[in-house]
This record gives sequence, structure tokens and C-alpha cells, in this order.
Amino acid sequence: MDKDKIIALLNQDLEGEHAAIIQYLTHAYAMGEGEMACEIEAIAREEMRHLDWLAETIVSLGGTPSLKRGDMRRDGESVPDWVRNDVLQEEDAIALYEEHIKAIGDPKIKRLLQRILSDEKSHRGDFEHFVEKAQKEGAKDLKGSRQDRITQVLNWGIEHEYTVILQYLFHSYMTSNGDVKKELEDQAINEMQHLEWLSEKLVDKKGAPRVEHTEVDQSTKTADMLRADIKIEREVVAEYNRAANEIAEADIKELLTRIKDQEVYHAEVFSDLLKEEEGQG
Ligand SMILES: [Fe+2]
Ligand SMILES: [Fe+2]
Ligand SMILES: [Fe+2]
Repeated sequence: MDKDKIIALLNQDLEGEHAAIIQYLTHAYAMGEGEMACEIEAIAREEMRHLDWLAETIVSLGGTPSLKRGDMRRDGESVPDWVRNDVLQEEDAIALYEEHIKAIGDPKIKRLLQRILSDEKSHRGDFEHFVEKAQKEGAKDLKGSRQDRITQVLNWGIEHEYTVILQYLFHSYMTSNGDVKKELEDQAINEMQHLEWLSEKLVDKKGAPRVEHTEVDQSTKTADMLRADIKIEREVVAEYNRAANEIAEADIKELLTRIKDQEVYHAEVFSDLLKEEEGQG
């Protein structure tokens, strides 16, 4: 099988991981702070590692990691329905990995896919167990349908955070500068925390997180990436500032201020890296 074909298969796997991550996080956030939500978030984190391994492999083959998200199962009225959908998501992943393991000859890539496959089988078992547990314990959907300035601001933040997670990961895969790569990975993890805080707060306030993203910068030159990353950080700092000043509820103000301070830090880190990168160039 030629390289391009392998890259295409791995990108299909990557898109599946992306869909699984968002589907599981959406479910976990809406369940509030329980044991099952924590375990589902832990599974989502394992899917992030899969995504990372697949993206790095794609880049090592000379490809570009896809930013598309595969199909998610969005229906389901109750927690047992959701986790049943998560079982189905794992079954799709298992079938696809089995097919790709058969199709790909490269032993290193085969081994990686086997490794991921064994995780997916274990996740399927976990979700099957959650179906029973959710039925037995009557786990609840804690989301609401509140729509006002607060839910609007929090959903705006969620959209921003999801966008920068994808952007920083993409840049970290594509840059050839090791220091920049490391910082981008670190800040992407920090943005994942922001996504979690905002989503949990929104559910707490009886809103419904809408996990969609806007345009992701796909620069491939390190200096261009950093310029785009600084720009988006400065924009978010201004927006979080504006919202924190305007909203009276203390807990929201506090959350937005805390996140904003971290965004200021991100912008400074990226600015330093840009100076170094330009100095070298
Ligand atoms: Fe996975
Ligand atoms: Fe953030
Ligand atoms: Fe940031």
C-alpha cells in the first residue's frame, strides 16, 4: 500500500477519534460531577492520546492531520441512551481499526493500531457497564435550556476554547521547532481545562454546551502559526475582559477572570517564541 493510502486511512481513524472525544465530553459535562462523568472524561483523554499518536504518525509519513470531525451520535433523550450510543461509537471504531490493521502492511503502524484497538475494546466494556449503571442509578441529564447573556458568553468561550485546542494541536504537529511544539502542546492541554470549566459551569447554570468550533488557522510556517496564535489570544483576552466586567454574577466573573489571566500568559509565551523564531529566520 502506498503512503498516501495509509495517510488517508489514518486520517479516517483520526476523524473518528475526534468525534468520539467530543461525543463523550458532551455526555460527561451534561451529567454533572459524578463518578461516571469522571470515568467518561478519562476515556475521552485516552481518545486524545490516540488522536495524538495518529496525527504524529501521519506527519512522519509526510501527511497533514485532518481537522474534520467524524460522525457523532447526537440523539438520545437520557443518560442510558447516551452511553448506549457511546457503546455503538466504540463498536464502529473497533470495526474500522480491525479493517485498517488488515489493510496496512507496515509493522510499526499495525502495532500502533493494535494498541489503540485494545483500548477501544476496553472502552466498549466500560460503556456497556455504564448503560446498566445509568439505568440502575437513574443518572440524570443536568443540562437545561436557559438562554441569556450568561449562557451566550459561556458558549462563546466554549467555541473559542475548542477552536484553539484544534489550532494549537495542529500547529504542534506541523512545526519543526521543538520548543514551539512543546509550548503548543502544553497550552492546548490548558485550553482543554478551560473548555471543561466553561462547560461544567454552563451545565451548572442550566444551559446547554454547544461544542462547535470556528475556523482553525492552518499555517505551516512556525512564525505564521505563532502570529495567528497571538492574535486569537489577544482577541479572547479582550472578550473575556469585556464579559467579566459586564456580568454581575460573582462566580462567572471569577471564572472568566481566571481563564483570562491564563490567556494573557499564553499570548506572552507565544510572543517570546515568535521573537526567537524571527531572530533565527
Ligand atoms: Fe480511540
Ligand atoms: Fe483558553
Ligand atoms: Fe489561550
